[in-house]
Amino acid sequence: MLLAEITDTHLMDGGIPAYGTIDTRAHLDAAIATIAALSPKPDALLVAGDISEDGTLGSYTLFRETVAPLGIPAYVIPGNHDAREPMRTAFAPDGYMPATGPLDYAADLGPLALIALDTLEEGEPHGTFSTGQCDWLGENLDKLAGKPTVVMLHHPPFPTGMKMDEINCRDGDAIGAVIEQFSNVEIVLAGHFHRSMHRNWAGTTANICSSTAHQMGLDLAHRPGFKVFMEPPQIQLLHWQKESGLSVHQVPVGVFECVHEGK
Ligand SMILES: [Fe+2]
Repeated sequence: MLLAEITDTHLMDGGIPAYGTIDTRAHLDAAIATIAALSPKPDALLVAGDISEDGTLGSYTLFRETVAPLGIPAYVIPGNHDAREPMRTAFAPDGYMPATGPLDYAADLGPLALIALDTLEEGEPHGTFSTGQCDWLGENLDKLAGKPTVVMLHHPPFPTGMKMDEINCRDGDAIGAVIEQFSNVEIVLAGHFHRSMHRNWAGTTANICSSTAHQMGLDLAHRPGFKVFMEPPQIQLLHWQKESGLSVHQVPVGVFECVHEGK
């Protein structure tokens, strides 16, 4: 099984540039073109939040129109720039979104299961995850009875050493306490930080995917303020092989020259 992952697309209603300067629509088009060119074709698309910059129904409709030509199911979660109710409305036709409450859900992808967590605290840059949601997470991991599972959420629940840890998920320790009870959690996928990183956490691998558009400057010194750069965007591929388990590949967005071809 092959899963493609993108995150932090930050689309605006009508596809206008985010912040007046970042053409997030064109960047998403380029990421989708990179995925469309893959062989083998991915079985599903995972999207780790901040789909929208402005939280409008129009931005979600544009996202759905943009990814539809891939012809594969797309599983989304909200980020801090998203708005829960327009998102619920826009993605309702796909059938996996709960009708009320947080947008937490479990989906059977075939060889893998997906558990998606809603860490959105509307109006705040940081994330939260309630005690009730932790109970839901434990119950759903328990129901999967050892099936290999991908957990996806927007706000990293783990420390990264970057200044952005100030706005990660404030209930990350509680999420980790649940996850570490289950050996079938293959990976925890996050977004929000707009740059790729990996670490061990809660007895599993934890990972942040690059944004399809703008990236946050690497700041391990915790300087005042922050800087945004147009570093090359990446998508991620999660490749599940029954015999050997999960491999994760970071793939730069674009078309690149082949400078040598062997036999
Ligand atoms: Fe973002």
